[in-house]
Amino acid sequence: MKNFKRTTITSALPYANGPVHIGHLAGVYVPADIYARYLRLKGEEVVFIGGSDEHGVPVTIRAQKEGISTQQVVDRYHKIIKDSFEEFGISFDIYSRTTSDIHHKLASDFFRTLYDKGEFVEKTSEQYYDEEAKQFLADRYIVGECPRCHAQGAYGDQCEKCGSTLSPEELINPVSKLSGAKPVKKPTKHWFLPLNKHQDWLKNWILENHKEWRPNVYGQCKSWLDMDLLPRAVTRDLDWGIPVPVEGAEGKVLYVWFDAPIGYISNTKELCDNNPKYGNWEKWWKDPETRLVHFIGKDNIVFHCIVFPAMLKAEGSYILPDNVPSNEFLNLEGDKISTSRNWAVWLNEYLVDFPGKQDVLRYVLTANAPETKDNDFTWKDFQARNNNELVAIFGNFVNRTLVLTQKYFDGKVPACGELTDYDKETLKEFADLKSVVENLLDNFKFRDAQKEAMNLARIGNKYLADTEPWKLAKTDMERVKTILNVSLQITANLAIAFEPFLPFSAKKLRTMIAREEFSWNELGKFDLLAEGHQLGKAELLFEKIEDAPIEAQINRLQKIKEDNEKQNYQPEAVKNTVDFDTFEKIDIRVGTILECERVPKSEKLLKFKIDDGMGGRTILSGIAKSYPEPEKLVGKQVCFVANFAPRKMMGTESQGMIMSAVDADGRLVVVSPSEKVTSGVCVG
Ligand code: 2FM
Ligand code: ZN
Repeated sequence: MKNFKRTTITSALPYANGPVHIGHLAGVYVPADIYARYLRLKGEEVVFIGGSDEHGVPVTIRAQKEGISTQQVVDRYHKIIKDSFEEFGISFDIYSRTTSDIHHKLASDFFRTLYDKGEFVEKTSEQYYDEEAKQFLADRYIVGECPRCHAQGAYGDQCEKCGSTLSPEELINPVSKLSGAKPVKKPTKHWFLPLNKHQDWLKNWILENHKEWRPNVYGQCKSWLDMDLLPRAVTRDLDWGIPVPVEGAEGKVLYVWFDAPIGYISNTKELCDNNPKYGNWEKWWKDPETRLVHFIGKDNIVFHCIVFPAMLKAEGSYILPDNVPSNEFLNLEGDKISTSRNWAVWLNEYLVDFPGKQDVLRYVLTANAPETKDNDFTWKDFQARNNNELVAIFGNFVNRTLVLTQKYFDGKVPACGELTDYDKETLKEFADLKSVVENLLDNFKFRDAQKEAMNLARIGNKYLADTEPWKLAKTDMERVKTILNVSLQITANLAIAFEPFLPFSAKKLRTMIAREEFSWNELGKFDLLAEGHQLGKAELLFEKIEDAPIEAQINRLQKIKEDNEKQNYQPEAVKNTVDFDTFEKIDIRVGTILECERVPKSEKLLKFKIDDGMGGRTILSGIAKSYPEPEKLVGKQVCFVANFAPRKMMGTESQGMIMSAVDADGRLVVVSPSEKVTSGVCVG
């Protein structure tokens, strides 16, 4: 591997059109943060760049939905997102935004440089135009009937019902979302980055020289590079964004995917301009001894591995990324995370429900990181990992060590006597693990690296369980001293190993052992806490999570799922027509429920005693699951089919059929008259 002097770490700029959720954290920000913290702990020169992506159609659509200005949207969500990242300890050196003046100038100059160098091609093409709103329409602003599933309201780029990717030309009866008018085609001029001109060097650079990239990233690049790359438009007809700095381009802005990655550069510039300790910004972007690493999600691969490098190369003075560790997607309880369906765990809401438990989420998201394939987050797994790993292994070991040291030695580190073979073996496992964890972190294998760190805690826990110092305290205090000394050195090692992963808990642990920050190079050493060193107060590092808050989360999601199902409900096709005579044959009446109870040994059946105005009757109905407290139905009136042929079920004759509506989520609801009527009257 090439030796670099410093590292520039970027993490995808999230659109400022909504809060961030666990998918964002797992896919991009936690791994990027682990990496940045690890390199800093090793004493390397690092910048970690973040920021909000505030241009593009996703934010203008949100403004339209919320009925506020686009500026208000980005101001609102930039703050919410920035606060969430801070609360989760994402240690950006800067978190800025693409509406900043520095960014507007830098992106505009970047475009102008490429323009002046003749790196673009100019093309005029026909685009949809709204004559009432007097503007060209982005794909998302055109809606119509889906040519595939015929759902109404499909967008010009995608049908959300059937998931098909579309182009606006394919929509049946397209209309403008802005005014409802029928859009017309009009010619418009745009600038294109001719990716075809870059294909050869891109192929060589990635497919030959970056075989070490993750297979998912390499594979996606390969499938692009095996096809003919086409010129890509880098400008748009839109009134929100960075104006195209060319005469005759009034009303046009840079395409959001052109300006957003330049945001990494502008944010670095903003950081360096305001903080001399980072030096000149150009060294982070133009010095071949700087290593550039982009953390992104899989939907951003082509932009970071093909389009942005082509832009950088065309400009001529920039370095290219050395690696692009992209993750796959995280699902939630088996379903794709979706902002529009509210199928997500929002970070700001998580913190309200689980205050102070940032590290628990960081731990679980890394343990399940979608590094090689899509992965699933479930609340039960979240609870189990907290209770069985963080509490039962890591927390338990630390707590026992500190409490015993307090009890026997007033919280002072005891002297280490002669080590037994078992002590030596235990310590050796630690010394060996350092290079294992390092190697994993250097290769962006955060999930395995964290597993190894947890293994250290496991070894510590086993060491205490095997040596049982609380028993020896009666007979061999010298041995107890050594055991606790070894355990304390292990504790200090854990504070180092977990620092990149669980920064809040590592800090708490350092307070408990009264130590300043360690350096990574101290990992694997056993003289970290000197004899006689006074420890701080022992506290619980992690707390058990009970069932109730977990069930509350599961119920919340269940409710969301039901609401979504209702919204998506498609009525069943109407049955064949019947004439009046046929309809008249069915005798529907109203009865009053006198008794209602479950049928023993049946999951589905309820037994009703009905006042039918004719001396009463018994009816069985398969609606027990929808009415877990059947006695509550007593006194209610229901419609029933009075001439339904009697049937025997579970040994009882059912004399009719209770009528129920089947709701969108499958729930059955009995049908009643809207006002009280006399029992036994006909419905017709
Ligand atoms: O997909 C997204 O959310 C984009 N806003 C990511 C941009 S990454 C970079 F280019 F800034
Ligand atoms: Zn469709």
